[in-house]
Amino acid sequence: MLLFANMTSNEIRSKYLKFFADRGHAVIPSASLVPENDPTTLFTGSGMQPLLPYLLGQPHPKGTRLVDSQKAFRSGDIEEVGDNRHTTCFEMLGNWSFGDYFKKEQIIWFWEFLTKEINLDPKRIFVTCYIGNPEAGIPKDTESADIWREVFAKAGIEAKEVDIGTEERGYEVGEQGGRIFFYGDKNWWSRAGAPHKMPAGEPGGPDTEMFYLFPEVQHDPKWGANCHPNCDCGRYIELGNSVFMEYLKTETGYENLPKKNVDYGGGLERIAAAANNSADIFPVAHAPILAFVEQLSGRRYADDKFAFRVIADHMKAAVFLISDGVRPSNVEQGYFVRRLIRRSVRYADKLGVKENAFASVVRPIAEMYKDQYPDISEKSIEIEKVIAEEESKFRETLSRGLKEFEKLAKGDTISGHDAYVLFTTHGFPLELTQELAKERGASVDLDAFKKEMDSHRDLSRAGAEQKFKGGLADQSEATVRLHTTHHILLKALQMILGDHVKQRGSNITGERLRIDFSHTAKMTDDEKKKVEDIVNEKIKEHLPMIRSTMPKEEAEKLNAQHEFGAKYPDMVSVYSLGPLGATKDRPLYDQSFSIEFCGGPHVANTSEIEKGGIFKIQKEEAVAAGIRRIKAVLQ
Ligand code: ALA
Repeated sequence: MLLFANMTSNEIRSKYLKFFADRGHAVIPSASLVPENDPTTLFTGSGMQPLLPYLLGQPHPKGTRLVDSQKAFRSGDIEEVGDNRHTTCFEMLGNWSFGDYFKKEQIIWFWEFLTKEINLDPKRIFVTCYIGNPEAGIPKDTESADIWREVFAKAGIEAKEVDIGTEERGYEVGEQGGRIFFYGDKNWWSRAGAPHKMPAGEPGGPDTEMFYLFPEVQHDPKWGANCHPNCDCGRYIELGNSVFMEYLKTETGYENLPKKNVDYGGGLERIAAAANNSADIFPVAHAPILAFVEQLSGRRYADDKFAFRVIADHMKAAVFLISDGVRPSNVEQGYFVRRLIRRSVRYADKLGVKENAFASVVRPIAEMYKDQYPDISEKSIEIEKVIAEEESKFRETLSRGLKEFEKLAKGDTISGHDAYVLFTTHGFPLELTQELAKERGASVDLDAFKKEMDSHRDLSRAGAEQKFKGGLADQSEATVRLHTTHHILLKALQMILGDHVKQRGSNITGERLRIDFSHTAKMTDDEKKKVEDIVNEKIKEHLPMIRSTMPKEEAEKLNAQHEFGAKYPDMVSVYSLGPLGATKDRPLYDQSFSIEFCGGPHVANTSEIEKGGIFKIQKEEAVAAGIRRIKAVLQ
């Protein structure tokens, strides 16, 4: 029997947004799951990613307090899905202070939200704080702990502090009756992780995390002797993480960011589970999808929770990613959509579903999110088509491949060559072969597989999600130059190919820029040459790049370019290039060469691009029907 939520995820999201809006926060829309102008990662995996420039000090058009619910996808968690709480696709509730409030307000407000708005039991809330790093000169976060102690005291709870340190030590020493636990790297947050992993230019800081205890869940000693808040057994569920982002990593150590920021992020689905007193998030946050799978398979959720959870998470993720423009393929984002759908099909097959079925999962998902993400409903026909195609392609090979697998999986090890043949001839991703092998207590000879792959190089840069190159690539000089060049290029393409050219995707690193745009025909050499000439000419004109903030309608009236399908808040930042003599106070929009909705950063003048070299198109190719892609460099 499925559980019905007393307080649904939709209600909790609304309460959260309202709670922080009532405290002076501007509500901003979720950004796409595919990051704009962020070469560091393939997906938006946290609420702070789209806001990075503002954490580094740029003023945000909506002010210093923001709140949102950001859709997020973490491909690194695919293998984790199956327990009571891990998902790849979730919504991250987020609130931010850009140099406005700090620890005290954040801790007290979030406590109030948990205990008064969604009525969690204060006695079941436990918190962790940063233990400090004397070598790096970063102190123990006693300030947060002091605030927590007072908060607990007001609720009649005496909060004992316990120093833990590493997670390994946590398993040794256990809870010790603590309420406030100090950990090391676990309580430090940056996109790169622990302090020593941060490249120069990366912001980060200590954090305080909130957990909800489910005392009825038995600690499983397979994780370690004793349970503690960061134990993996699922007794404690994390409700969120308030990062006090105040440091910037430098070549030699740490310096203070221009302002002290708060970056809170918490999984909506987990908070919803806690609000419904369920240690299992799926019956609360994925109920309509589980119901769909029950109906489809004639099986109950309780029969095979693992398979149901994988399908519920993966199909939701696939639907969200497809609605953000990703299509199944063998590379980059598309690879993950392919993997999510194929893995779901495999588990559906296990549950006895032998026919194409997943196009119909779009409807319950669109229905769940009709208010927050109406684009899923709007694009549902297209999403259904993409899923149906991928599913039928895979089903054709699945039964054949499974037979082949049975033949090969006789011993304890599947050779690299066999895994390679399963992949190339039968469309079995390595992960699927590994998973099947594991189910039979066998393993795949990974090194041999990799060697085989390298020697036939066609395939995949696929698993390369972490494209983290060191340094904030999007803030480095080379990347910023290419970013401004990207704006010039879009305009030049429209001049040469026509006004139907619209940006459909982009990605910029320090080495090259990439733009996807709507256009059907392959560009001729002559067209490419003309586009290059225009871009180089504009660079040489030394045009000023001017940033303005304005209401969205005004920017639309100026015909500022934006990416198809992207959503923007009602105040936007706009960059206009040229004319010569334009200034921030006198932007002369009607004479600008290009105007785009954009968060920046950019060069102040195209003379700075000149230092990077001559603009050159390296590659022009089709990426999807009606969409072309250009890769270009300054050399
Ligand atoms: N940025 C923080 C996180 O993703 C809140 O956990």
